[in-house]
Amino acid sequence: MSGGIGKKTVRDIDVAGRRVLVRADLNVPIENGVITDDTRIRESLPTIEYLLAHDARVIVCSHLGRPKGPDPSLSLAPVAGRMANLLGREVLFAEDCVGPIAEAAVESMGRHVLLLENLRFHPGEEQNDPQFARQLASLADIFVNDAFGAAHRAHASTEGVTHYLPAVAGLLMEKEVRYLGALVANPPHPFAAVVGGAKVSSKLPAIQHLLPKVDILLVGGGMANTFLKAKGLDVGASLVEDDLLEAARDVMRSADARGIELHLPVDVVAASRFAADAETVTVPVEQVPSGYLVLDIGPETVRRYAAALQRARAVIWNGPMGVFEMEPFASGSFELARTIASLDAVTVVGGGETAAVVAAAGLHDRFTHVSTGGGASLEMLEGKTLPGVAALLDA
Ligand code: 3PG
Repeated sequence: MSGGIGKKTVRDIDVAGRRVLVRADLNVPIENGVITDDTRIRESLPTIEYLLAHDARVIVCSHLGRPKGPDPSLSLAPVAGRMANLLGREVLFAEDCVGPIAEAAVESMGRHVLLLENLRFHPGEEQNDPQFARQLASLADIFVNDAFGAAHRAHASTEGVTHYLPAVAGLLMEKEVRYLGALVANPPHPFAAVVGGAKVSSKLPAIQHLLPKVDILLVGGGMANTFLKAKGLDVGASLVEDDLLEAARDVMRSADARGIELHLPVDVVAASRFAADAETVTVPVEQVPSGYLVLDIGPETVRRYAAALQRARAVIWNGPMGVFEMEPFASGSFELARTIASLDAVTVVGGGETAAVVAAAGLHDRFTHVSTGGGASLEMLEGKTLPGVAALLDA
Protein backbone atom coordinates (compact mmCIF):
# COMPACT_ATOMS: atom_id res chain seq x y z
CA MET A 1 0.00 0.00 0.00
CA SER A 2 1.37 3.45 -0.83
CA GLY A 3 0.13 6.91 -0.01
CA GLY A 4 1.20 9.51 2.49
CA ILE A 5 0.41 9.84 6.15
CA GLY A 6 -0.09 13.60 5.99
CA LYS A 7 3.17 14.23 7.87
CA LYS A 8 6.71 15.03 6.79
CA THR A 9 9.15 12.17 7.10
CA VAL A 10 12.95 11.86 7.17
CA ARG A 11 12.82 11.69 3.39
CA ASP A 12 11.43 15.22 3.21
CA ILE A 13 14.32 17.04 4.91
CA ASP A 14 18.01 17.53 4.37
CA VAL A 15 19.86 15.82 7.19
CA ALA A 16 23.42 15.90 5.84
CA GLY A 17 25.87 17.06 8.48
CA ARG A 18 23.05 17.80 10.93
CA ARG A 19 22.63 16.47 14.46
CA VAL A 20 19.43 14.42 14.43
CA LEU A 21 17.66 13.40 17.63
CA VAL A 22 15.77 10.15 16.98
CA ARG A 23 13.09 9.19 19.50
CA ALA A 24 12.79 5.41 19.23
CA ASP A 25 10.69 3.02 21.30
CA LEU A 26 13.42 0.76 22.68
CA ASN A 27 11.20 -0.36 25.54
CA VAL A 28 12.16 -4.04 25.23
CA PRO A 29 11.73 -6.82 27.78
CA ILE A 30 14.94 -7.36 29.78
CA GLU A 31 15.29 -10.24 32.26
CA ASN A 32 18.37 -10.28 34.51
CA GLY A 33 20.17 -7.94 32.12
CA VAL A 34 19.32 -10.07 29.06
CA ILE A 35 17.11 -8.72 26.26
CA THR A 36 14.46 -11.40 25.63
CA ASP A 37 12.84 -9.84 22.54
CA ASP A 38 14.76 -7.37 20.39
CA THR A 39 12.02 -6.73 17.80
CA ARG A 40 11.72 -3.05 18.71
CA ILE A 41 15.50 -2.55 18.38
CA ARG A 42 15.48 -4.26 14.97
CA GLU A 43 12.53 -2.17 13.82
CA SER A 44 14.36 1.04 14.78
CA LEU A 45 17.31 0.27 12.48
CA PRO A 46 15.95 1.35 9.06
CA THR A 47 15.60 4.97 10.19
CA ILE A 48 19.02 4.99 11.85
CA GLU A 49 20.60 3.41 8.76
CA TYR A 50 18.82 5.87 6.48
CA LEU A 51 20.15 8.80 8.52
CA LEU A 52 23.70 7.39 8.56
CA ALA A 53 23.57 6.83 4.81
CA HIS A 54 22.55 10.47 4.42
CA ASP A 55 25.46 11.73 6.50
CA ALA A 56 23.52 12.72 9.62
CA ARG A 57 24.87 12.54 13.17
CA VAL A 58 22.46 10.19 14.91
CA ILE A 59 21.53 10.65 18.57
CA VAL A 60 18.97 8.08 19.74
CA CYS A 61 16.79 8.38 22.82
CA SER A 62 14.06 6.20 24.38
CA HIS A 63 12.27 5.27 27.55
CA LEU A 64 12.57 1.83 29.17
CA GLY A 65 9.98 0.61 31.65
CA ARG A 66 8.30 2.91 34.13
CA PRO A 67 11.02 4.05 36.56
CA LYS A 68 10.22 6.55 39.28
CA GLY A 69 13.71 8.07 38.97
CA PRO A 70 17.18 6.74 38.10
CA ASP A 71 17.11 2.94 38.34
CA PRO A 72 20.12 0.88 37.16
CA SER A 73 17.90 -2.12 36.39
CA LEU A 74 16.19 0.01 33.72
CA SER A 75 19.33 1.36 32.08
CA LEU A 76 19.40 1.36 28.27
CA ALA A 77 23.07 0.29 28.30
CA PRO A 78 22.26 -3.33 27.27
CA VAL A 79 20.23 -1.94 24.37
CA ALA A 80 23.28 -0.01 23.09
CA GLY A 81 25.18 -3.31 22.96
CA ARG A 82 22.43 -5.13 21.07
CA MET A 83 21.96 -2.20 18.70
CA ALA A 84 25.69 -2.19 17.93
CA ASN A 85 25.58 -5.93 17.11
CA LEU A 86 22.57 -5.51 14.85
CA LEU A 87 23.92 -2.40 13.12
CA GLY A 88 27.39 -3.87 12.76
CA ARG A 89 29.00 -0.68 14.05
CA GLU A 90 29.88 0.93 17.34
CA VAL A 91 27.09 2.58 19.35
CA LEU A 92 28.26 5.01 22.03
CA PHE A 93 26.25 5.31 25.24
CA ALA A 94 25.76 8.46 27.36
CA GLU A 95 24.85 7.86 30.99
CA ASP A 96 22.39 10.74 31.01
CA CYS A 97 19.98 12.00 28.36
CA VAL A 98 20.38 15.74 29.11
CA GLY A 99 22.89 18.07 30.81
CA PRO A 100 26.71 18.06 30.78
CA ILE A 101 27.12 14.27 30.29
CA ALA A 102 24.83 14.19 27.25
CA GLU A 103 26.29 17.43 25.86
CA ALA A 104 29.86 16.16 26.17
CA ALA A 105 28.88 12.86 24.51
CA VAL A 106 27.30 14.70 21.56
CA GLU A 107 30.37 16.94 21.31
CA SER A 108 32.73 13.97 21.01
CA MET A 109 30.54 11.42 19.15
CA GLY A 110 32.06 12.07 15.74
CA ARG A 111 30.40 9.77 13.19
CA HIS A 112 29.33 7.17 15.75
CA VAL A 113 25.72 6.52 16.70
CA LEU A 114 25.01 7.75 20.24
CA LEU A 115 22.32 6.27 22.50
CA LEU A 116 21.22 8.38 25.48
CA GLU A 117 20.23 6.91 28.87
CA ASN A 118 16.55 6.25 29.75
CA LEU A 119 14.53 9.46 29.35
CA ARG A 120 12.25 8.50 32.26
CA PHE A 121 15.09 8.81 34.76
CA HIS A 122 14.00 12.48 34.65
CA PRO A 123 10.46 13.28 35.87
CA GLY A 124 10.33 16.08 33.27
CA GLU A 125 9.93 13.46 30.54
CA GLU A 126 6.49 12.18 31.56
CA GLN A 127 5.45 15.60 32.86
CA ASN A 128 6.22 17.02 29.40
CA ASP A 129 8.17 19.73 31.19
CA PRO A 130 9.15 22.49 28.70
CA GLN A 131 12.48 23.02 30.45
CA PHE A 132 13.41 19.35 30.06
CA ALA A 133 12.14 19.28 26.45
CA ARG A 134 14.28 22.32 25.65
CA GLN A 135 17.37 20.71 27.18
CA LEU A 136 16.80 17.59 25.09
CA ALA A 137 16.19 19.64 21.94
CA SER A 138 19.40 21.61 22.51
CA LEU A 139 21.40 18.45 21.68
CA ALA A 140 20.24 18.43 18.04
CA ASP A 141 19.19 20.38 14.93
CA ILE A 142 16.35 18.09 13.78
CA PHE A 143 13.93 15.78 15.59
CA VAL A 144 12.78 12.46 14.12
CA ASN A 145 10.02 10.60 15.93
CA ASP A 146 10.19 6.88 15.19
CA ALA A 147 8.67 5.78 18.52
CA PHE A 148 5.23 4.70 17.39
CA GLY A 149 4.83 2.60 20.55
CA ALA A 150 5.05 5.78 22.65
CA ALA A 151 3.14 8.09 20.28
CA HIS A 152 0.01 7.94 22.44
CA ARG A 153 1.98 9.67 25.23
CA ALA A 154 2.33 13.46 25.21
CA HIS A 155 5.75 13.40 26.85
CA ALA A 156 8.73 15.74 26.48
CA SER A 157 10.49 13.45 23.98
CA THR A 158 7.37 12.81 21.88
CA GLU A 159 5.54 16.14 21.99
CA GLY A 160 7.45 18.77 24.01
CA VAL A 161 10.59 18.62 21.90
CA THR A 162 8.65 19.40 18.71
CA HIS A 163 8.17 22.97 19.98
CA TYR A 164 11.92 23.57 19.66
CA LEU A 165 13.04 21.57 16.62
CA PRO A 166 11.72 20.81 13.13
CA ALA A 167 10.00 17.46 13.71
CA VAL A 168 9.39 14.68 11.17
CA ALA A 169 8.38 11.02 11.21
CA GLY A 170 10.87 8.16 11.01
CA LEU A 171 10.38 5.24 8.65
CA LEU A 172 8.84 2.93 11.27
CA MET A 173 6.46 5.64 12.43
CA GLU A 174 5.46 6.21 8.81
CA LYS A 175 4.79 2.49 8.28
CA GLU A 176 2.76 2.15 11.48
CA VAL A 177 0.58 5.18 10.75
CA ARG A 178 0.12 4.04 7.17
CA TYR A 179 -1.13 0.59 8.13
CA LEU A 180 -3.01 1.27 11.35
CA GLY A 181 -4.37 4.68 10.36
CA ALA A 182 -4.47 5.34 6.62
CA LEU A 183 -5.29 1.74 5.64
CA VAL A 184 -8.10 1.48 8.17
CA ALA A 185 -9.49 4.89 7.15
CA ASN A 186 -9.58 3.93 3.49
CA PRO A 187 -9.30 0.16 3.13
CA PRO A 188 -9.51 -1.99 0.03
CA HIS A 189 -12.68 -4.10 0.17
CA PRO A 190 -13.64 -6.64 1.30
CA PHE A 191 -11.99 -5.51 4.54
CA ALA A 192 -11.97 -7.91 7.50
CA ALA A 193 -11.31 -7.23 11.16
CA VAL A 194 -10.44 -10.06 13.51
CA VAL A 195 -10.86 -8.98 17.10
CA GLY A 196 -10.01 -11.02 20.17
CA GLY A 197 -8.46 -10.73 23.61
CA ALA A 198 -9.83 -11.22 27.07
CA LYS A 199 -12.21 -8.33 27.48
CA VAL A 200 -14.84 -6.57 25.40
CA SER A 201 -14.34 -3.44 27.49
CA SER A 202 -10.81 -2.92 26.17
CA LYS A 203 -11.79 -3.56 22.52
CA LEU A 204 -15.22 -1.93 22.31
CA PRO A 205 -13.99 1.51 21.16
CA ALA A 206 -11.90 -0.16 18.42
CA ILE A 207 -14.86 -2.31 17.30
CA GLN A 208 -17.08 0.76 17.18
CA HIS A 209 -14.51 2.64 15.10
CA LEU A 210 -14.00 -0.30 12.74
CA LEU A 211 -17.67 -1.22 12.24
CA PRO A 212 -18.49 1.40 9.59
CA LYS A 213 -15.42 0.37 7.61
CA VAL A 214 -15.41 -3.43 7.64
CA ASP A 215 -17.25 -6.00 5.53
CA ILE A 216 -16.36 -8.98 7.71
CA LEU A 217 -15.97 -9.05 11.50
CA LEU A 218 -14.67 -12.13 13.32
CA VAL A 219 -14.80 -12.20 17.12
CA GLY A 220 -12.78 -14.57 19.31
CA GLY A 221 -10.94 -14.74 22.62
CA GLY A 222 -12.50 -14.28 26.04
CA MET A 223 -14.49 -11.31 24.79
CA ALA A 224 -16.54 -13.59 22.53
CA ASN A 225 -18.15 -15.03 25.68
CA THR A 226 -19.92 -11.74 26.34
CA PHE A 227 -21.32 -11.83 22.79
CA LEU A 228 -22.42 -15.46 23.19
CA LYS A 229 -24.13 -14.73 26.49
CA ALA A 230 -25.75 -11.65 24.92
CA LYS A 231 -27.27 -14.07 22.39
CA GLY A 232 -28.74 -16.09 25.26
CA LEU A 233 -26.15 -18.89 25.41
CA ASP A 234 -24.83 -20.37 28.64
CA VAL A 235 -21.02 -20.01 28.68
CA GLY A 236 -20.52 -21.81 31.99
CA ALA A 237 -18.04 -20.18 34.36
CA SER A 238 -16.35 -18.16 31.59
CA LEU A 239 -15.34 -14.56 32.08
CA VAL A 240 -18.30 -12.43 30.98
CA GLU A 241 -18.69 -8.66 31.27
CA ASP A 242 -22.34 -8.52 32.24
CA ASP A 243 -22.43 -4.74 32.13
CA LEU A 244 -21.56 -4.91 28.43
CA LEU A 245 -24.18 -7.40 27.28
CA GLU A 246 -26.27 -4.58 25.84
CA ALA A 247 -23.21 -3.06 24.14
CA ALA A 248 -22.51 -6.46 22.55
CA ARG A 249 -26.13 -6.62 21.34
CA ASP A 250 -25.69 -3.12 19.89
CA VAL A 251 -22.63 -4.26 17.93
CA MET A 252 -24.57 -7.27 16.59
CA ARG A 253 -27.56 -5.11 15.63
CA SER A 254 -25.34 -2.50 14.00
CA ALA A 255 -23.41 -5.17 12.05
CA ASP A 256 -26.71 -6.62 10.90
CA ALA A 257 -28.08 -3.23 9.82
CA ARG A 258 -24.91 -2.52 7.85
CA GLY A 259 -24.87 -5.90 6.13
CA ILE A 260 -21.59 -6.86 7.80
CA GLU A 261 -20.74 -10.54 7.94
CA LEU A 262 -20.30 -10.99 11.71
CA HIS A 263 -18.99 -14.34 12.97
CA LEU A 264 -18.97 -15.59 16.54
CA PRO A 265 -17.50 -18.92 17.66
CA VAL A 266 -19.64 -21.97 16.93
CA ASP A 267 -17.48 -24.33 18.97
CA VAL A 268 -14.97 -23.81 21.76
CA VAL A 269 -12.32 -25.46 23.91
CA ALA A 270 -13.53 -25.31 27.51
CA ALA A 271 -11.56 -26.23 30.63
CA SER A 272 -12.43 -27.25 34.17
CA ARG A 273 -9.93 -24.71 35.55
CA PHE A 274 -7.76 -21.85 34.29
CA ALA A 275 -4.69 -24.08 34.02
CA ALA A 276 -2.71 -25.87 31.32
CA ASP A 277 -3.31 -29.26 32.97
CA ALA A 278 -7.08 -28.79 33.44
CA GLU A 279 -9.65 -31.23 32.01
CA THR A 280 -10.66 -29.92 28.57
CA VAL A 281 -13.54 -30.54 26.20
CA THR A 282 -14.17 -29.32 22.66
CA VAL A 283 -17.88 -28.65 22.31
CA PRO A 284 -20.45 -26.64 20.32
CA VAL A 285 -21.14 -23.28 21.99
CA GLU A 286 -24.56 -24.57 23.05
CA GLN A 287 -22.96 -27.33 25.16
CA VAL A 288 -20.40 -25.69 27.45
CA PRO A 289 -20.45 -27.83 30.62
CA SER A 290 -21.52 -25.96 33.72
CA GLY A 291 -18.55 -24.75 35.75
CA TYR A 292 -16.24 -24.89 32.69
CA LEU A 293 -14.36 -21.90 31.26
CA VAL A 294 -14.17 -21.18 27.53
CA LEU A 295 -10.44 -20.68 26.79
CA ASP A 296 -10.10 -21.05 23.00
CA ILE A 297 -12.13 -21.17 19.81
CA GLY A 298 -12.76 -24.67 18.43
CA PRO A 299 -11.71 -26.30 15.12
CA GLU A 300 -15.03 -25.74 13.35
CA THR A 301 -14.83 -22.02 14.22
CA VAL A 302 -11.27 -21.91 12.87
CA ARG A 303 -12.50 -23.53 9.66
CA ARG A 304 -15.35 -21.03 9.26
CA TYR A 305 -13.15 -18.02 10.06
CA ALA A 306 -10.56 -19.20 7.54
CA ALA A 307 -13.27 -19.59 4.90
CA ALA A 308 -14.67 -16.13 5.62
CA LEU A 309 -11.22 -14.55 5.28
CA GLN A 310 -10.48 -16.04 1.85
CA ARG A 311 -12.20 -13.21 -0.02
CA ALA A 312 -10.69 -10.37 2.09
CA ARG A 313 -8.34 -7.93 0.37
CA ALA A 314 -7.20 -6.47 3.68
CA VAL A 315 -7.24 -7.89 7.21
CA ILE A 316 -6.58 -6.21 10.51
CA TRP A 317 -6.08 -8.54 13.48
CA ASN A 318 -6.09 -7.40 17.08
CA GLY A 319 -6.31 -9.79 20.03
CA PRO A 320 -5.68 -13.53 20.41
CA MET A 321 -8.43 -16.12 19.94
CA GLY A 322 -7.70 -17.88 23.24
CA VAL A 323 -5.23 -18.23 26.09
CA PHE A 324 -2.38 -18.87 23.64
CA GLU A 325 0.25 -18.84 26.38
CA MET A 326 -1.08 -22.27 27.49
CA GLU A 327 -0.55 -25.02 24.92
CA PRO A 328 -4.05 -26.62 25.15
CA PHE A 329 -5.65 -23.24 24.35
CA ALA A 330 -3.19 -21.97 21.71
CA SER A 331 -4.34 -23.68 18.55
CA GLY A 332 -7.16 -21.23 17.67
CA SER A 333 -4.71 -18.29 17.67
CA PHE A 334 -1.94 -20.19 15.87
CA GLU A 335 -4.27 -21.62 13.22
CA LEU A 336 -5.69 -18.19 12.57
CA ALA A 337 -2.17 -16.72 12.35
CA ARG A 338 -1.29 -19.32 9.70
CA THR A 339 -4.51 -18.62 7.81
CA ILE A 340 -4.05 -14.84 7.76
CA ALA A 341 -0.36 -15.17 6.87
CA SER A 342 -1.28 -17.25 3.81
CA LEU A 343 -3.86 -14.82 2.40
CA ASP A 344 -3.30 -12.85 -0.76
CA ALA A 345 -4.24 -9.61 1.06
CA VAL A 346 -2.79 -6.70 3.00
CA THR A 347 -2.41 -8.22 6.47
CA VAL A 348 -1.86 -6.05 9.52
CA VAL A 349 -1.36 -7.22 13.08
CA GLY A 350 -1.91 -4.98 16.10
CA GLY A 351 0.92 -4.96 18.62
CA GLY A 352 1.24 -6.46 22.08
CA GLU A 353 -0.33 -9.90 22.53
CA THR A 354 -1.25 -10.39 18.87
CA ALA A 355 2.32 -9.65 17.82
CA ALA A 356 3.43 -12.18 20.45
CA VAL A 357 1.18 -14.85 18.86
CA VAL A 358 2.65 -14.16 15.43
CA ALA A 359 6.21 -14.24 16.79
CA ALA A 360 5.58 -17.49 18.70
CA ALA A 361 4.18 -19.01 15.49
CA GLY A 362 7.33 -17.91 13.63
CA LEU A 363 5.26 -15.95 11.11
CA HIS A 364 6.37 -12.35 11.73
CA ASP A 365 7.77 -11.93 8.22
CA ARG A 366 4.68 -13.34 6.52
CA PHE A 367 2.46 -10.35 7.40
CA THR A 368 2.41 -7.03 5.57
CA HIS A 369 2.91 -5.26 8.90
CA VAL A 370 3.16 -6.28 12.55
CA SER A 371 2.81 -3.28 14.82
CA THR A 372 5.44 -2.51 17.46
CA GLY A 373 2.89 -0.56 19.50
CA GLY A 374 0.73 -1.90 22.30
CA GLY A 375 -1.47 0.85 23.69
CA ALA A 376 -0.57 3.05 20.71
CA SER A 377 -1.83 0.58 18.11
CA LEU A 378 -5.10 0.08 19.99
CA GLU A 379 -5.63 3.86 20.27
CA MET A 380 -4.94 4.19 16.56
CA LEU A 381 -7.56 1.50 15.84
CA GLU A 382 -9.98 3.45 18.00
CA GLY A 383 -9.49 6.34 15.57
CA LYS A 384 -7.77 8.56 18.12
CA THR A 385 -5.23 11.19 17.16
CA LEU A 386 -1.91 10.30 18.78
CA PRO A 387 -0.13 13.35 20.26
CA GLY A 388 3.29 12.15 19.08
CA VAL A 389 2.00 12.00 15.49
CA ALA A 390 -0.09 15.18 15.61
CA ALA A 391 2.97 17.21 16.71
CA LEU A 392 4.98 16.40 13.56
CA LEU A 393 5.22 18.81 10.63
CA ASP A 394 2.39 18.46 8.14
CA ALA A 395 3.36 17.19 4.71
C1 3PG B 1 4.72 0.18 25.27
O1 3PG B 1 5.43 -0.73 25.68
O2 3PG B 1 3.51 0.02 25.00
C2 3PG B 1 5.34 1.51 25.00
O3 3PG B 1 6.73 1.44 25.05
C3 3PG B 1 4.79 2.57 25.91
O4 3PG B 1 5.15 2.33 27.24
P1 3PG B 1 4.32 3.01 28.44
O5 3PG B 1 2.96 2.34 28.44
O6 3PG B 1 5.12 2.73 29.69
O7 3PG B 1 4.19 4.47 28.15
